Amino acid sequence: MPRLIVVNRAGEETTVEAADGLTVMEAIRDNGFDELLALCGGCCSCATCHVHVDPAFLDQLNPMSEDEDDLLESSDHRVASSRLGCQVPLTPALDGLRVTIAPED
Ligand code: FES
Repeated sequence: MPRLIVVNRAGEETTVEAADGLTVMEAIRDNGFDELLALCGGCCSCATCHVHVDPAFLDQLNPMSEDEDDLLESSDHRVASSRLGCQVPLTPALDGLRVTIAPED
């Protein structure tokens, strides 16, 4: 069960446990963070699951699709470590991943 460290928009850090195979978005949503709207439910069409990933983990994440890249491009808060949480499945290798919920667009 990978642990995910979630930093909310107030800068508060919480560690949650997620079942293997859940996405970062699902793990955050299922643990009651209402800041992460995830309006499209994980279909890669809303960008309301935008997170900033700890750069130390970037090379261990699955590659970004063109659709994800395009959606992130529409955000004013995109940074080099931006990902859509619904497009990042959690694996044991990502234990301890730290993500910050991006500011609202
Ligand atoms: S939940 Fe909509 S793009 Fe991720």
